[in-house]
Amino acid sequence: MHIAIINGPNLNLLGTREPDVYGSQTFEQYFETLKEKFPKVNFSYFQSNIEGELIGEIQKMGAACDGIILNAAAYTHTSVGLGDAISAIKAPVVEVHISNIYAREEYRHHSFLTGKCKGVISGLGLKGYELAVNYLVTK
Ligand code: DQA
Repeated sequence: MHIAIINGPNLNLLGTREPDVYGSQTFEQYFETLKEKFPKVNFSYFQSNIEGELIGEIQKMGAACDGIILNAAAYTHTSVGLGDAISAIKAPVVEVHISNIYAREEYRHHSFLTGKCKGVISGLGLKGYELAVNYLVTK
C-alpha cells in the first residue's frame, strides 16, 4: 500500500513555528516514527510553499498511490484549484490539520477541500496523520 503525505505552506517550519499551536516536533522527526508504526506502508512525502506544486503533486499521486493525506495549510482556506485537483483524482484524500481550525480565527473555519475529501481530522496534533493512515489502511 502506497500512501502519499502532502503538506502545504509553512509546514516546513514545524518545530519552530508557533510551537504553542503546532508543537515542537519537526515533521521529519514525526515522519520517522510514523514509518516505524506502519512498516508495511510505502510512504511518500512532499512539502511545498507553492500552490501549483501542490496541485501537481495531487495530480501525480492521485494516479500513483492508494490514498493521500493532505494538510494544505493556509491554502485550505483559499484554494479552489486544490479542491478541483482533489475532485479530479481517484485516490481517496483525507484532510488533516494539526490545530483545531474551528477553534481559531473565523477565516480558518471554511475549507475549500473538506467537501471533496473522504473526511477531515483537525485539532489532534501530529497524531492526526497517523489516524488518517489508520483509516486508509483499514477502509
Ligand atoms: C493548519 C491550519 C491552517 O489554518 C494554517 O494556515 C496552517 C496549518 C494546521 O495544520 O493546523 O498553516 O493547516
